[in-house]
Amino acid sequence: MLLLYTLAAIVGWSQVIQCLPTASGIPYATIRNFVTTDILNGDDGMPPSPDAPLSYGKPVLHVDTDGNAIEEHNGRLFYYNDQYYMFAEKWACGRFSFFLGNVTGGYPRNQNFPPGDYGGQCGIVIYTSPDLTTWKFETLVQPQGVKGSPTKPKLLYSSATGKYVLWLKAGNELGFTGGLYYLTADSPTGPWSNATVATGDHLAHDFDIAQGEDGSHYIVTDAFRGNFDPESAGGSLPMWDVWVQKLLPDLTGVVGTNDTTVQVMDTVDSQGIGVATIGGKWYITGGPTCGNCEVPIQYLSASSPLGPWSNEAGVISPDLKQGTIIAGRGCGGQNKGLNKLPTANGGEVVISAIWGYRTSPISLAWAGMVQHGDNSQAISSTYWYPLEFDEGGRVKEYTCAAEVQLPLVEQRQRKVPVMPSYQPDCRVRDNTTFVQTGLDFGEGPIRIPVFQRTDDLGPYAQDGPVMDAALVMTVQYEDGTQSSVSFPASDVSWAPTIVEVPLETGQPVKSLSLSTTATNGCYGVLAEPKKMQGSKYAVVDADGEDEAADAQVYVHVDGSDWTPW
Ligand SMILES: *[C@@H]1O[C@H](CO)[C@@H](O)[C@H](O)[C@H]1NC(C)=O
Ligand SMILES: *[C@@H]1O[C@H](CO)[C@@H](O)[C@H](O)[C@H]1NC(C)=O
Ligand SMILES: *[C@@H]1O[C@H](CO)[C@@H](O)[C@H](O)[C@H]1NC(C)=O
Ligand SMILES: *[C@@H]1O[C@H](CO)[C@@H](O)[C@H](O)[C@H]1NC(C)=O
Repeated sequence: MLLLYTLAAIVGWSQVIQCLPTASGIPYATIRNFVTTDILNGDDGMPPSPDAPLSYGKPVLHVDTDGNAIEEHNGRLFYYNDQYYMFAEKWACGRFSFFLGNVTGGYPRNQNFPPGDYGGQCGIVIYTSPDLTTWKFETLVQPQGVKGSPTKPKLLYSSATGKYVLWLKAGNELGFTGGLYYLTADSPTGPWSNATVATGDHLAHDFDIAQGEDGSHYIVTDAFRGNFDPESAGGSLPMWDVWVQKLLPDLTGVVGTNDTTVQVMDTVDSQGIGVATIGGKWYITGGPTCGNCEVPIQYLSASSPLGPWSNEAGVISPDLKQGTIIAGRGCGGQNKGLNKLPTANGGEVVISAIWGYRTSPISLAWAGMVQHGDNSQAISSTYWYPLEFDEGGRVKEYTCAAEVQLPLVEQRQRKVPVMPSYQPDCRVRDNTTFVQTGLDFGEGPIRIPVFQRTDDLGPYAQDGPVMDAALVMTVQYEDGTQSSVSFPASDVSWAPTIVEVPLETGQPVKSLSLSTTATNGCYGVLAEPKKMQGSKYAVVDADGEDEAADAQVYVHVDGSDWTPW
C-alpha cells in the first residue's frame, strides 16, 4: 500500500522535495522491471516459449556495486539497522531445477549431475542497500544441515532472544511437514548457525511470515494435501492445504495449539503463498499450482491472522477454494511472497516479488501455460510491484508496469538514481563471435561480467552441467596486434560475473571479441544502451554481421555506474 502521508515540516525537507518530487513528497526508488525498448532487436540468443512471450517487455538484470549481476531469485526484502537487505537464492554454480511432474513423450527422467566445478557459487546471497537501488554484495550463506539447495530465505528478528532468525525451505516438495529450516545469528549478515528443522505441523513447501502489530509472527504455508488432482494433465497436479500458524517467540517453530492454528484452505490448487499485514488488515497472496508459469496472482484478506479469511466474493473457510485475481498472468511470473518495508513518515509499503522464469521454445506447456521454464534460472529476474489498495482496503489490480516507484524510508537527503538495468545477451557459440568496437578501455584491465548457459534439452534433461569449451576473449589493438585470454568454463559463472582481461601493449584498443568452440550452449554478456557514439556491438557468424545499433557491452568501471548524487 502506498500510504500517503501529510508532510511533516522537518529540517532539510525542502531539499528533498526539490530532488524527489513525488505526489506524496515521499522519497522513492525507481526500479525497472522490463525494458521499454529492446536494444537487442528481439534477438538475445534466448528465445522464450511462445506461451510465455515476455509480453511486458524483456526482463532486465541489475548489477551490484562490484559490477556483478544481482541474483534476486526468490528475492525477499527486509529493513533492519537503517538499511535494506535482500536475501535471495544464488544459482551461479550451474544449479538446475528439473520438472517434478510426469511428462509423456520420452524425455529421460530427472538428470542430476555430480557435484563439480561448474563456474560460480550457489547458496543464499545477502545484499545491503541504503535505497533499494545501490546494492552491495555482503556474503554468501551455504547452510550446513539442509539437504539440497536452500530456497525462499526469510529474515526475522526475535525480540525474545535478541537473535536474527533466517527461515529457509529445502527439498521435501511433497512432505507434510519438516521441509522448513531456521538458522540464527547476531547480525543479518551472519555468521549464521547451522540449519535446524523448524518444529511443528504443516511446515512444508511454500511459506511466508508476517509480524503483527502485537509483535507476534505468523507463518502461512501451502503444504501438500497428500493427493493429486485426477482431472489434471497426467493426473500429476498436487493439491495443497493452506495454514496460518503463530510462531514461538524464539521463532524456531510454531506454537501448535488449536487457538494459534487455522486452516485457511483445504485441498486446493493454490500455492506460491505470501502474507503481509498493513493498514490493520491481513493479506495472503497465492495462485494456481504451476511449474514456473506466468500464473494468476490471487488474494485473500482478514482482519486477524487467524481469520476468518475470505475472498472479495465473501467466501470463507471451509468453502474458500480460491482468492480474488489481481494479476491475470502474474505480470509475467509467479509471485513469491510479500515484502513489507517502512517508508517515510511512519508509513509502510508491501511489495510483491514476482519471479519471472526464463523459458525456451522447448519448454513444456499445458493449456497455454509453460509448466516448467528453463532448468537453470541463473539469469532470470524478479519483478517488483508495490501493492495498491482502494479505500476499502481491497487490493487493486497490478499494473505490470515496466518501471515502478518504491517509496523509501526518509534517510537520504539526496537524489536516488534510477537503477541502471541491463539485458543479458547469450549469443557466443561455436562459429558465432561477439565483437564490440569503439569503446575506450583506458589502460585496462577490461572488467566485464560474462556468463555461461548450457542448452535445455527438455524439462528433465540438460546438455551437460558446464560448457564443453573455454570462453576466449581477444583484444585487437589499433596497431594490428592482438592478445587473447582463455577462461575455462569452470571459471565462468552462470550469472553475469566479472572477469578481467588485461591490456598488454599500451596501444589503444580497436575491438574486444568473445568466442568459443563449445557446442552445448552459449556464453553471454550484458548489453546497455549505447553511450559511446561510433561504437559497434555485433555478433558475427558465417552469414555475416548482426549489429545491435542501440547497444554497447556493459563494462564495469569502479564507481562509474551510478549517477552522482
Ligand atoms: C555444522 O555442521 C557441520 C557439518 O555437519 C559440522 O561439522 C559442524 O560442527 C556444525 N557446527 C555447529 C556449530 O554445530
Ligand atoms: C507418475 O506416473 C506414474 C505412472 O503413471 C505414477 O505411478 C506416479 O504416481 C506419477 N507421479 C506423479 C508425481 O504424478
Ligand atoms: C484441536 O483440534 C483438533 C481438530 O479439530 C481436535 O481433534 C483436537 O481435539 C483439538 N485439541 C484441543 C486440545 O482442543
Ligand atoms: C562450425 O564451423 C565448422 C567449420 O566450418 C563446422 O565443422 C562446424 O560444424 C560448425 N559448428 C556449428 C555448431 O555449426
